[in-house]
This record gives sequence, structure tokens and C-alpha cells, in this order.
Amino acid sequence: MNAIQQEVRSLIKQLSEYQKAYYVDNRPQVSDLEYDRLFDRLQHLEQEHPELRFPDSPTQRVGSDLDADFPEVAHTIPVLSLDKSYSSEQLLSWIQKTETKLDEQVGIVIEEKIDGISIVLYYEEGVLVRAVTRGNGAVGNDVTANVRTISSVPLSIPTKETLAVRGEVYLPKASFALLNEQMEVPFANPRNLAAGTIRRVKSSQVAKVPLQIFVYEGFWESDTQLKDHLSILSALSSYGFRINENLAYFTQDARIAKQKLEEANLSGFAGSFADIASYLDAHTKQRRDLAYEIDGLVAKVDELSFRELLGYTEHHPRWAMAYKFESPQAQTEILAIDVQVGRTGRVTPVARVRPVQVAGSTISNITLHNQDYINMLELGLGDSVEISRRGDVIPAVERVIEKAEGGQGTYHMPTACPVCASTLVQKGAHTFCPNPHCPQQVKGRIEFFIGKDGMDIENFGPETASVLIDLGLVSDVDDLYRLDYRKALADQSGFGEKKIRLIEEGIQKSLNQPFRKVLVALGIPELGKKGADILVNAGLDSMEKLLEVAGTQDVQRLVSIRQIGEKSAQLYIDALNDPAMLRRIEALASLGLSMVEQQQKETDLAQIFAGQVWCVTGSFEHFNPRGLALGEVEKRGGRTVSSVTGKTTHLLAGNGAGSKLEAARKLGVAIVDEQMFLSLLESGVPKREEMQGEFSF
Ligand code: IVH
Repeated sequence: MNAIQQEVRSLIKQLSEYQKAYYVDNRPQVSDLEYDRLFDRLQHLEQEHPELRFPDSPTQRVGSDLDADFPEVAHTIPVLSLDKSYSSEQLLSWIQKTETKLDEQVGIVIEEKIDGISIVLYYEEGVLVRAVTRGNGAVGNDVTANVRTISSVPLSIPTKETLAVRGEVYLPKASFALLNEQMEVPFANPRNLAAGTIRRVKSSQVAKVPLQIFVYEGFWESDTQLKDHLSILSALSSYGFRINENLAYFTQDARIAKQKLEEANLSGFAGSFADIASYLDAHTKQRRDLAYEIDGLVAKVDELSFRELLGYTEHHPRWAMAYKFESPQAQTEILAIDVQVGRTGRVTPVARVRPVQVAGSTISNITLHNQDYINMLELGLGDSVEISRRGDVIPAVERVIEKAEGGQGTYHMPTACPVCASTLVQKGAHTFCPNPHCPQQVKGRIEFFIGKDGMDIENFGPETASVLIDLGLVSDVDDLYRLDYRKALADQSGFGEKKIRLIEEGIQKSLNQPFRKVLVALGIPELGKKGADILVNAGLDSMEKLLEVAGTQDVQRLVSIRQIGEKSAQLYIDALNDPAMLRRIEALASLGLSMVEQQQKETDLAQIFAGQVWCVTGSFEHFNPRGLALGEVEKRGGRTVSSVTGKTTHLLAGNGAGSKLEAARKLGVAIVDEQMFLSLLESGVPKREEMQGEFSF
């Protein structure tokens, strides 16, 4: 092996390990930046030496749809869903109508509606050959390898029959509670955890989750001797399938019902139609005591000959009816799915739904997180969905209620950035736009910088930022401190004299934000307020010190700080070595933003300007930009304003002071020069004699 070959093989090995750590184990070992660096190197070598492109190279996966691991396959039976009722009256009326339609007495089986994932198990000549998700009813995903790990799914059946079996894969409540405790991001309910598990790429990981199955329908390829649903259930049970015996049988005559159950060798409740309402009630209450979650009950016509006569609509059999415990929190429709580019380049799919009220507010946009999440829900355009507001706050799509008719199937995120058209890259579960100049990333960065969690610039909202960015006047955060806002916004509608002044004021005041705020505003991944506090309190209280740690790649220095993990440490270091970030930091420092945490707390300063109203005009030697002087006033309890009025008590006048100085003279406002101001700050106490001597009234 020559040196290049060796490098390629070692990169493949390294990257594959990182991929596994990130994607499967959910425990990243390196920063995205470092991963990208190695990845780019490998890609480059492969381009230069095509003969070294190996099939196991991680580059062969990029851009490939994650679903590639779960190929789409056509169902050989129509996998329909159920019509729904929400009251015993509705359900009884359906039974009545069915009997009238058939002009016969029917037997009704009522089963539990398991809240899990619908799966079709295909057996050919007695062997499990495929397990397929419901998908859009016609086409689903092949998840055979994963379903094979579920111990209650028979891999072969004693008869050599070819048949399809429908069932529900679920996670028992107790297992859910146990597993969810260990999750970094807990799942909302057992169904979602089960759905996420069934789509895991490595079946070895699936095997660790104690999934279960209940089967409830069988479809034989050739004619069977079986005449009714109860016989099907008992046949399936004898083949080794797990069926749910928590069922009930109802006919007009309770005695016949009892007999039918006994004949089928099934336990369960037997009664007449008159008993149905109380059975529904009792079961609704009992559901809490079950080991698994159910979201309703299902009533099914027992006799297969009647089922055939009743037939199907496009969506559901006419021989079955769900009884739902509670109406969905809200039902709506996916009108569109947009992808949004965030400040870190992460691309997030967002569903636009027909606006609906949920828990008191109108929901029209719902985040879908990433492609994996969409796959888990098998969500597509036009689908009707059940939505909720988890913890009554964040709206979430809970599940697809009905696939769109003639829909396109599961939605796939685009391969190019919708904003700058760069080819998107996949990192773990998330998709990123790799272009740091992508206009949307720029916008996101600037919006974060000015926002509450960042510099918290007063009177400067995202709309203003947007206008300036679109005008091409701001392309990075330091531009905000260089701009002549009067010139820039003069001709823009919605920006009057006063508004512009307030914006300027906000910008000036923000210069006084402490270092820890500046540090957060830079938008370093995972460095929020808490992270900044930890760093500063651990002695890394200046940009200089941080840059030194970053420059020497001193991960240990950061990791030695309690509460900072290796992953965050590496993220911080990588970000602080990024040339764009270094340029930004240097620019902001030269513009006067704090790069050192002031030891003295603001509240420790004597509040010598309390009750005073200060205005600042002209230019200064020590306070450049002059916003710094405003900060000094505010730290000492003074209020600052942008124009001289009758309420102004002091004017700090620098070189070139003009109209404000005149106004101050006319109004009798105290005028203070830079020298005087400095001595006030130093003394901490305004001396009376000084005030009288130097102030001109
Ligand atoms: S029967 C043609 N029985 O509920 C057969 N479905 O909302 C139609 N489900 O997609 C399904 N428990 O995933 C049936 N005992 C049960 C069920 C059940 C859960 C699910 C199934 C279906 C969904 C319809």
C-alpha cells in the first residue's frame, strides 16, 4: 500500500467510526468542522485517484436518501385504514345500518385499537420474506431486518402458506418509561419511540428495544376454509402469532355470542348489542390499566362472506369501524412543506398547515425537525394529520390520519439549498447548507446577534436587519456598528427621523453589553448564556484568553472546567479558529465591543447619576464611539436620551458639538466636557464645588 492508499483507508475507517458515533449511537466524537475537514480530504483524494474509491467509503452515502436503507415496496394487499366514530350512538348506528344493508344478523368483534405502527408481514410458503410499513397504503418501506428482531414475530409458520398478516408493532408502557428516561431528547409517547426504533438503520440497535406485536388481520393468497374473523384470529394464534385476546363478541343474541367465542377457543366478553354502550364505557376507563397504549376500539363484522358483500371504499373497509376515545386534539392538512435555513446552516423542514385552533392559539406552521422525523411519520403533502401542542406549547404533528389521495408519498427534503442552491450535506440526522455566505445564514446570524439572547439591541428588530441586508449594506454583524443609519435608511418607507434615532441609540447602547453577552452573540454552536457564564467564571474572562486556548487547541483546558464536555469544548475551539469568526471578533473589538469581562459589577458602582437625564453629543477621545459614554452614565444610575429637551439634566459635549449644545444652553441644561466627565467617573462622587465651578447653567 502506498502512502495515499494508506491515507484513504485510514480516513474511511475514521469517518465510518465518527458516522456511527453520531448517527447510530447519538454520541458525536468530533465537531462537525473536523468531520467536514476529514470528509473533504477523503473526497478530494477520491477525485484525484478514482481507483481508490471504495464501496465502503462514507462519501458513497452522502446525498443518498436515508430511506435507501428501507426501500419502498408495493403492498400486495390494500393496506387501508379505518372509518371512525366518537360515540356509542355513532357506532351502534353503524352496526344497525350494516345489518339493514345486508338484511342479515351479523356478529361484531370489538378489539382494542393498539396505538403503535401498522406493519404488514408477508410470508411466502411459510417463511417471513418481508415486513413493510403501511406507507401510503399502496407502497410502504421494507423494514424486514428490524422487524425480524421482534421476538414475537414468527420467522416462519408451521403451514407452508403464502399470506399477509397485518399487525401493530408497539412498545409496552413500562419499557417506554425505562428507555425514555435515558434519552437525551425524550419521545412524546411510546408510539413515537417505537416508530423511531423501527426506522433505525442498524437492526442491532432495534434489537435492544423490547418491541412487541399484536396481529389482527390475515389475508391468504389461496382460498381458505376460514369463514370468520374469530377463526382467523385463532388460526393466526395457532401459527405462533401473538393476538390480543382482550376482545369482545356481540350479536343480537348474547347466548350465540358466547357460543361463538367458545367455538373459536378465545376468551373475551360476550354480549348482545344492548351491552355495547356499557362495554365501551368500561373499556375506556380500563385502558389506563393496560400494559400498552390504545387509542380506541375497533368494531369488525365477523363473517367473511358479509365482509366481501360490504366491500371497501378507497380508504377503509365498510366492514369495520373505529371507536376513538377522544377526538383528535386538532386535525388539519399539510398544505406545503418548506425548508428553512438557520444561522448555523441547518436546514429544517417546516409544515404549513391549514390554520387550526389548538389549546387556544392558531397553528399554521409546525417544525418537522429533519428527514428522519418525516420518515417516521411517513408524512407527505396533502396528508391529513393529527396535531397537538406538546406540553401545551410547541405544536407537533402526531400522526397521519389519512394519506393524500393520489399523493406523492413521503416527503423528501431537497438536495440543494433553497436559498443559495449549494448542494446540501448530511451530518447525522440533520441536513446543512455548507455555504457560510448563504444569505439566509447571514440573516440568521445577524438576527441572533441583535436578538434578546445576543446583544439585545434595543429598537432593532429583525425587520430592520432584513431591510439593511437586502439593501446590501450589512453582510456581517460588525457592519451594524459602521453604518450611517441616517444615510442608509433615509429613503426607506417606515423609517422616520425618530425611528432612525432610536435605532442609532440602540446600537450605541449595545456597545456597553458585557463580554459574556458579546461572547454569546457571536453564535458559537452550543455556547449560550449558561456556557458563557461557566467560561467567564472559570477565569476565561476575555477574548484574548479564549483565543489562546483555541489557538493551541487546548481542549483539556476547557474540559477541565466542570460542566463543559468534550463535544462542546471542541465545538468552541473549532468555532474560535474559524477564519470568518476571527475576522468578526477582531472587527467587533476594534469597534469598541467588550472583549474583557469587567470585574466590577455594575451594581457595585456608586449610583452618582441617579435621577439625572444625560444626552451626549460630539466626539470624544476616550469614548469612541460615544455610546460608551452613555453606558458609563447608565451604569451609574443615569438615564440617557438622544435629544436635548426640557427634561434633560446634563449634556456631555465633545468636539464639534453643535445644535444640541445650543439647545442645552437655551434650556439651561448642565454642560459637561470630557475632562470633567472623566473626573466624575473616577471620583465616583460628584463634588458640589466642581459642579458649581465647571458646569455652565
Ligand atoms: S383493522 C383493513 N384492527 O389502526 C383492516 N387496525 O386507524 C384495517 N390498528 O392502520 C385495520 N389496532 O394500524 C385494525 N385491532 C386493530 C387495530 C388496528 C390498531 C391500527 C391500524 C390501522 C389504524 C387505523
